Parts: sequence; structure tokens; C-alpha cells
Amino acid sequence: MKVIAFNGSARKDGNTAILVRRVFSELEKEGIETELVQLAGQPVHGCTACAKCFKNKNHRCAVEGDIVNDCIEKMLAADGIILASPTYFADLTSETKALIDRTGFVARANDDMFKRKVGAAVVAVRRAGAMHAFDSINHFFLISQMIIPGSSYWNIGIGRAKGEVEHDEEGLRTMQTLGQNMAWLLKKIHA
Ligand SMILES: Cc1cc2nc3c(=O)[nH]c(=O)nc-3n(C[C@H](O)[C@H](O)[C@H](O)COP(=O)(O)O)c2cc1C
Repeated sequence: MKVIAFNGSARKDGNTAILVRRVFSELEKEGIETELVQLAGQPVHGCTACAKCFKNKNHRCAVEGDIVNDCIEKMLAADGIILASPTYFADLTSETKALIDRTGFVARANDDMFKRKVGAAVVAVRRAGAMHAFDSINHFFLISQMIIPGSSYWNIGIGRAKGEVEHDEEGLRTMQTLGQNMAWLLKKIHA
């Protein structure tokens, strides 16, 4: 089994990536393969509303030339998908939103192609707005007919400068429990 994660931060290997890696270490203990794709530095265009995905129905976005179709292929091949974002102005980063809009529209055009995959949101925050970002990601999973495991708190970690989230003991514990619950759920689904 495999879990693919996308880090929508503009900052590579920052707090969001640290949180995702905490989830990964629990998944890996259970023999689940993991891969992290970091969107930092990658141009990710928003949805152009061309609706060609509904005509083509080929599991691809008609907007070529950026990373999104590679992301779709990785999502299709995975059993679980983590979408991770830092909080920017009390919401997702624009990269994360573009990824959601493009992959989500293609999924809807292709009989909800992520249906029954396991999805988890991970959010880094300095102070406020994380719940809004967390909800935005979960809206994508829910309308895609995906299954969402919970944790001991909502999946957020607190920190501003790169690495600061390492001091948020509860946030790290939340990610650890999320990884354990995600592994448990994946094993049940694939039993
Ligand atoms: C453009 C921008 C907007 C931000 N907006 C918020 C915000 O609304 N609330 C907040 O608590 N932190 C905000 N932050 C801080 C980041 O969420 C925080 O530093 C986070 O840990 C960054 O994660 P990263 O290291 O993965 O990039 C913002 C940072 C940037 C660059």
C-alpha cells in the first residue's frame, strides 16, 4: 500500500513537511510506502474552467505544462492521499487550492476517480486560521467520496520559522496518532 502526500507550502522542508513526515513514520512502521511531493518552486496554475476534462474523460487535466497531471497519476496510484498546507491568510496556499481545483474537477469528470481512497489534511500555522484551511482540504476529500480518519485533535501543528513546529509537542502527537489511524484504516479497507 502507498500514501502520497503533497506539501503546498511555498517553503520546501518547512513546518508542513515536518508534520507530514511525522505521519509518514507511523505509516512506514506498518509497512506502508510513502512519498512526499513538495510544490514549492513549481508553477501550479489554477483551474481554467475549460471543462475539457468532462469531454475527454481521460483522467487528465487539459492544462498541460505543469506538475498537476503528474500529481493526478500519483494520486490514482496511491491508496491514501495527504494534502498538506501551511495557513496563509487563514486559508490554504494558492498552490494547494490550485491542486484541489484541478484534480478535483478531473476526478468529478471521471466517475469520482478517488472514491474510497483514504484522505488526510495536515496544516501548519503560526497562530490562527488553521481550522479554515483544514476544513477546505476536507471539503475536497468529502465531495470526492473519500474516507477520512481522525486523530486526537484536528491535524494542525503550530510554528512560524522553519522547524519551530518541532516544539509543538501536542501537534506532533496529533500527527503520530493520525498516522496510526490512517494505517489502521488502510489495512481494514484492504483486508
Ligand atoms: C503569505 C503568508 C500568510 C500567512 N498567513 C498566516 C495566517 O493567516 N495565520 C497564521 O497563523 N500564520 C500565517 N502564516 C504563517 C505560516 O502559516 C507559518 O509560518 C507556517 O508554519 C509555515 O509553514 P511552512 O514552514 O511549511 O511554510 C502566513 C505565512 C505566509 C508566508
